[in-house]
Amino acid sequence: MAMAAMALGLLPFVAAAQSADVGGRLAERWCMGCHVVETGPRDVATDGVPTFPAIAARSGTTAESLDRYLSTAHTNMPDFALSRSERSALVTYILSLR
Ligand code: HEC
Repeated sequence: MAMAAMALGLLPFVAAAQSADVGGRLAERWCMGCHVVETGPRDVATDGVPTFPAIAARSGTTAESLDRYLSTAHTNMPDFALSRSERSALVTYILSLR
């Protein structure tokens, strides 16, 4: 684990790009049914579900706050039981929409 963290630290940009890529695919598979998951013309929230770009744009949104949100079950959102690496990829992806 420490070794992996160190390796990531050496290649932050490459790792973030790969992670955002993976996160984007996860978002299309699991999140797109409810959330608008990309920036674009349909950037408007439907049915009160916040879009990912809107979530990313909030000043209070951080990697920690997203990770915490995705680690717990929420009333209106299915509990995906995401793995640590899936969460981290999704968080990186959402923040890449800034
Ligand atoms: C069944 C519909 C549904 C799906 C699928 C879904 N969400 Fe959500 N999500 C919601 C709703 C509704 C909210 C608004 C907050 C609430 O009521 O729980 C929300 C809120 C959020 C928030 C918090 C936004 C805030 O207000 O801070 C995040 C982050 C989020 N979703 C991420 C995801 C991710 C990542 C996925 C895919 C793994 C996903 N959601 C899949 C319905 C969904």
